[in-house]
Amino acid sequence: MARNMIVWSTFYFVIGVVMGMVMSISEVHTLSPVHAHINLLGWVSMALGGILYHLFPAAANSMLGKWHFWLHVIGIPLMMAGLAGLLSSGNSQFIIATSIGGICVVIGAIFLFINAARYVK
Ligand code: HEM
Ligand code: HEM
Repeated sequence: MARNMIVWSTFYFVIGVVMGMVMSISEVHTLSPVHAHINLLGWVSMALGGILYHLFPAAANSMLGKWHFWLHVIGIPLMMAGLAGLLSSGNSQFIIATSIGGICVVIGAIFLFINAARYVK
């Protein structure tokens, strides 16, 4: 699982910096919050999770670890696609995907906290 999180994080890093580059060149910053959260949730938070699970295998192997992983991995694309749709079209229906994705990420973070408190020794 540590490996999966680290590989996913580097994928989001590529997406994040490509987006940053496109935003800089085009001077269109509409999707700046998407870029920010792809980098911060996808690259930074995901990489930190992967490193943590590498350092503490007991946390990686627990049910809380597996739930955190899946909630984070599913939550990010839902939240980012919803937010991108919302910012570019203004259609409020995108709030549903954004909210579900965001809630997944938040619940995942709570699981990570409980997991760390329990298994990081
Ligand atoms: C090649 C790499 C990158 C480029 C060219 C780039 C470019 C940009 C651009 C053009 C903006 C919009 C600024 C604005 O609208 O005022 C922005 C915002 C932002 N970027 Fe990047 N970025 C890059 C990498 C990163 C990375 C690696 C992170 C975080 C780990 C990051 C975090 C942010 C954040 C948090 C914002 C929002 C700042 C705000 O709204 O005040 N960026 N970036
Ligand atoms: C489920 C998780 C998260 C949700 C729902 C969320 C939501 C938001 C919202 C609604 C904004 C305001 C955007 C705007 O004013 O246009 C924001 C801005 C910001 N958030 Fe988050 N956030 C989350 C996670 C994070 C994390 C984990 C980080 C850092 C590691 C972060 C860093 C930032 C930064 C730097 C900004 C300002 C950049 C900007 O305005 O584009 N967020 N976030």
